[in-house]
Amino acid sequence: MEARYPSESRTILTDLVLPGETNPLNNLFGGELLARMDRAAGIAAGRHSRRIVVTASVNHVAFSKAIPLGSVVTVEAKVSRAFRSSMEVVIDVWIEDRQSGDKTRANEAIYTFVAVNESGAPVMTIPQIKPETELEQERFDAALRRKQLSLVLAGKMKPDDATELKALFT
Ligand SMILES: CC(C)(COP(=O)(O)OP(=O)(O)OC[C@H]1O[C@@H](n2cnc3c(N)ncnc32)[C@H](O)[C@@H]1OP(=O)(O)O)[C@@H](O)C(=O)NCCC(=O)NCCS
Repeated sequence: MEARYPSESRTILTDLVLPGETNPLNNLFGGELLARMDRAAGIAAGRHSRRIVVTASVNHVAFSKAIPLGSVVTVEAKVSRAFRSSMEVVIDVWIEDRQSGDKTRANEAIYTFVAVNESGAPVMTIPQIKPETELEQERFDAALRRKQLSLVLAGKMKPDDATELKALFT
């Protein structure tokens, strides 16, 4: 099966922050942002694998900047690496300045999706990823460590078997 570029899965969702989606400080509620990121990442994973996909884990989320009511928020998701049935998806979140149109990076996240069949069982035949840019190559290279960390934390891998992860500390 031919490998695909991250850009082939690129998914962009742009939407406003409305009053029902904010916390008492009038900033976007974290759960709403998680849902938007999950939706974009799920579409990206589906575009890459051309399969039904489910969220297996949220590996990393950084709510580094509050997103005020009325903001125009863009969520951009791309598959950074594919394994056997699972894919890592990196999500970047941008806020757009109403007057200048300039975009500021507000948040980022990394999700893992698994391609499944009609019964919900993982399918082992998804295309691999061929990175094109320097950033895509960096994300590709680090994805295996993140997968191992996620599996160790989920109790699905013994720390001793996480060779790529351990190599960071030796
Ligand atoms: C995700 C799911 C399909 C995995 O099924 P499973 O029977 O545990 O399958 P496996 O252990 O063979 O794992 C399948 C793949 O997922 C990966 N995976 C499983 N849990 C993971 C985790 N916590 N972090 C990273 N990867 C994970 C495995 O490494 C494997 O990857 P690979 O095939 O690319 O090597 C299953 O747990 C599931 O259906 N979960 C519910 C999904 C869901 O409903 N999501 C919506 C959230 S409400």
